[in-house]
Amino acid sequence: MGFTMRAVVLCGGEGTRLRPFTFTQAKHLLPVAGRPVVEHALAAVRATGIRDVGIVVSPSVEGQFRERLGDGSRLGLSVTYIVQPEPKGLAHAVLCAEGYVGDDPFLVYLGDNLLQGGIAGVVDLFRSQNPAAVVTLRRVDDPRRFGVAVIEGGHLVRLVEKPPNPPSDLAIVGAYAFTPLLFQAAREVKPSFRGELELTDCLQWLVDRGHPVLPYEVRGWWQDVGRPTDLLVANRLLLAQIEPRVEGEVDGSSTLDGPVVIERGARIVASRVVGPVVIGEEARIERSTVGPNAAVGPRAVVRDAEVADSILMDGACVEQGARIAGVVLGRGARVHLPMGRPFSAFLGDESTLEVKEEG
Ligand code: G1P
Repeated sequence: MGFTMRAVVLCGGEGTRLRPFTFTQAKHLLPVAGRPVVEHALAAVRATGIRDVGIVVSPSVEGQFRERLGDGSRLGLSVTYIVQPEPKGLAHAVLCAEGYVGDDPFLVYLGDNLLQGGIAGVVDLFRSQNPAAVVTLRRVDDPRRFGVAVIEGGHLVRLVEKPPNPPSDLAIVGAYAFTPLLFQAAREVKPSFRGELELTDCLQWLVDRGHPVLPYEVRGWWQDVGRPTDLLVANRLLLAQIEPRVEGEVDGSSTLDGPVVIERGARIVASRVVGPVVIGEEARIERSTVGPNAAVGPRAVVRDAEVADSILMDGACVEQGARIAGVVLGRGARVHLPMGRPFSAFLGDESTLEVKEEG
């Protein structure tokens, strides 16, 4: 050991590809498997043993983060908010955290990257080898949309951001450990083709100056949440890991199959819940079938309907015979449809989809 590590969790970015949801909510606060994306990332940080976390946010969403996560104590963490005034890249975001990090090594985790096996391995490797940096890598079919790494003799020798002709199939996953030398690199690298200061270029800067940069290769699933369909994929992957727990009320004519979480104040009436499913606080499920792979948010309502493979955000409502599968409903969005074929859609906050019965 010998040093205390802090974590810097990057939650900047506009989330434009996640519209309409990001018109009203920060991307990292969108719910997946019953809680915001960033809470899954923070749980992974906590599992490394780190307790002090600086969350880098853009000014427009700082308030939303403070409201949701507070001082972090509910998650067993001590959270500090760091504002990145402008979206100038990941390395710029980390530079904003320099004062918070101080003189010790630190973990950097992109708050929208979810990993099956968590990130404790990054910290363990860093502590045992004391390199200048550890980078998480995973083999992927199409590395062109990621940073890509080349390994020789157990060390990284080349790192390149979004290469049109990838030199390997090893993509850079958004979990890194660094010494404070990273800050010098971030001050010296030039903006990339996309006008941003890239962590990938900082890593190459370290390599070029002879500092050891070690790979940490993961094999389990890795999912980042960039587009609405990613929300559903992440939802499925994370629901597969839930620990069943029933704190709400389930009446005698309802059945629960498979892993199910029912939060406090939720009520299940005359319904079938087929796990994996999470039902949020104060939600109502009446004469319906929910699941598998459904996350029903707090205060959401499912009445006389079927909901599978979907995310219903806070207060969303599905009723009157609707059958939905592959749907993300924003907060307070409503779907009223007579029983028909299952349909899929992405509906932003407060939208309504209604089909009148004929006659
Ligand atoms: C960033 C990094 C890239 C990495 C990716 C992982 O890309 O720049 O090297 O592979 O995260 O999610 P971005 O999401 O900013 O395009």
